[in-house]
Amino acid sequence: MRIILFGPPGCGKGTQAVLISEALSIPHLSTGDMLRNAVSSKSEIGLKAKDIMEKGGLVSDEVVLSIVQERVANSDSKKGFILDGFPRTVNQAERLDLILNEEQKIDCVLRIKVDEDEIIKRLIDRGRNDDKPDIIKNRFKSYNAETQPLIPFYETREILFNIDGMQEVEKVSAEIKKVLSEF
Ligand code: AP5
Repeated sequence: MRIILFGPPGCGKGTQAVLISEALSIPHLSTGDMLRNAVSSKSEIGLKAKDIMEKGGLVSDEVVLSIVQERVANSDSKKGFILDGFPRTVNQAERLDLILNEEQKIDCVLRIKVDEDEIIKRLIDRGRNDDKPDIIKNRFKSYNAETQPLIPFYETREILFNIDGMQEVEKVSAEIKKVLSEF
């Protein structure tokens, strides 16, 4: 299966992606993790991404698409994958369609819905470098301006499924499994 985990910063995409990846034995492709690794290794991509990530903005589509294209072409992605944090702009979604060929369509987009107040609490508790109030505010700004338009984009295709992310991790996971069991 080819799955997109979609939702605002800190809604639980990464947490649920790990569980789905284990259950379905398909790789978890997180652009956030890939970019953080690139920043740590001080690669060319990392140098381009560092300042933007530190401010909570979106890294350029070209940079993100280059890493996704390479990762999706990997042999372990042949029987499916879970995209976490990608696509994040309509342009990224359209380009993803071009990267995937006809037989490799996205099966479903799981949209995890969590109230903003709850997310802020979770992120402050987690304490990652970009989990500071000002940066969280910018991450939300980027999400609202650039990423939200993907909701109608995938709704029109009838592959968007809403998941209640306000529940505890196991209950969110059970709701996701129920949706996936229907494929
Ligand atoms: P990325 O790493 O993708 O950040 P994000 O979308 O803000 O998401 P997070 O990783 O913070 O949260 P999540 O939804 O995965 O939730 P998690 O499971 O961790 O991207 C980072 C940056 O990279 C971006 O800001 C951008 O600059 C750049 N970037 C990445 N992709 C890009 C792209 N495609 N284009 C351009 N730029 C890109 O959970 C959060 C916390 O909540 C954890 O502590 C977790 O334990 C807890 N938690 C999870 N579920 C629950 C629950 N049900 N109940 C209680 N606590 C929970």
